[in-house]
Amino acid sequence: MQPFSIRCYGDCDGQRVRELYTAGVWEHFPRARRHLLGQWWVWVAVGLVLGLLLALPLPPVLALGLGAVLLATVHQLLRHVWSSLINQNLRADLLDPASHYLGREGGCFWVAECQGQVVGTVGVVPSNASPAELELKRLNVAITHRRRGIAKALCRTVLAFAHTSGFTAVVLSTSLIQTEAQHLYLKMGFQPTSTVLPPNLLAKLTNYTIHRYRLTLAGEFRSLDPKYPLGINAVKQSSGGSQPDPDPDPAPGAAAAPATPKWGWQRHREQQQQQQQHREQRQWHRTGSELSKEQGAELSRERAPGVS
Ligand SMILES: CC(C)(COP(=O)(O)OP(=O)(O)OC[C@H]1O[C@@H](n2cnc3c(N)ncnc32)[C@H](O)[C@@H]1OP(=O)(O)O)[C@@H](O)C(=O)NCCC(=O)NCCS
Repeated sequence: MQPFSIRCYGDCDGQRVRELYTAGVWEHFPRARRHLLGQWWVWVAVGLVLGLLLALPLPPVLALGLGAVLLATVHQLLRHVWSSLINQNLRADLLDPASHYLGREGGCFWVAECQGQVVGTVGVVPSNASPAELELKRLNVAITHRRRGIAKALCRTVLAFAHTSGFTAVVLSTSLIQTEAQHLYLKMGFQPTSTVLPPNLLAKLTNYTIHRYRLTLAGEFRSLDPKYPLGINAVKQSSGGSQPDPDPDPAPGAAAAPATPKWGWQRHREQQQQQQQHREQRQWHRTGSELSKEQGAELSRERAPGVS
């Protein structure tokens, strides 16, 4: 199995993060369609339309053909709705994860990288409901890299961040068709808290429920794995990453907090400052070399009379 590592989001990851998100949501389209077909009223509507078409003074083949065209149109309409949902979510935060997640106090965004390619993502922002709670969002792993523990490692990174940043709990929402994610969250120690219906007509008509989960950081997280209480070491271990391990063998129950825990936005600001410094250094070198060229030219002009 190829090793992977987890790092903070950088501006160069934007396109890949959006691709992963889009692919992850499209992947669920067949399940959403199956869920829709599981609603009794859909079959009543299909039966009524077909009955109506067959009742028309048309040859049965034409009536059935019209029915097929109608079903194909409905299918395209559903794809359009799904695609609009993706675009709406992309616009909400993923068009600019740096400012939405890293530019916000308490926010952060990570990517999992394998052989130089981004294969997983996760972000956090303080929850709207309670600023003491952190909301986990946009957890996604490339279909080519599933079942290797990448999502677990990303979750542990979030839990470690939440813990060291002083949040009391991590909360998240997932939909009824995201069954792998539900297994994952239960495995990570999250507890289901409520089930809600989104406030849109289609979701209400299809009973497309959203499931909320919560993990309180006081006890459950530590009990996940006493050897790696904050998950950081577990991430390193499973990733085989080359980053230095803060505490290779922490005492059971000990908090393996990083030496200087930093908010996502603090890291982001640091990165920006480093980039600015780098730009200034390059400018300085450029100016220096331009100066030396000018000085050289001046010197040769000064020397020129003697030489000639
Ligand atoms: C959900 C998702 C992130 C899991 O990623 P992953 O890297 O494959 O997960 P991991 O390998 O870390 O597996 C962790 C646990 O998740 C559960 N899980 C993952 N895939 C599963 C599957 N196909 N069936 C059942 N359980 C599954 C298991 O409990 C697993 O633990 P185990 O391997 O010890 O049994 C991934 O399937 C995905 O990106 N799906 C599409 C996007 C999505 O639904 N995101 C969730 C947003 S709320």
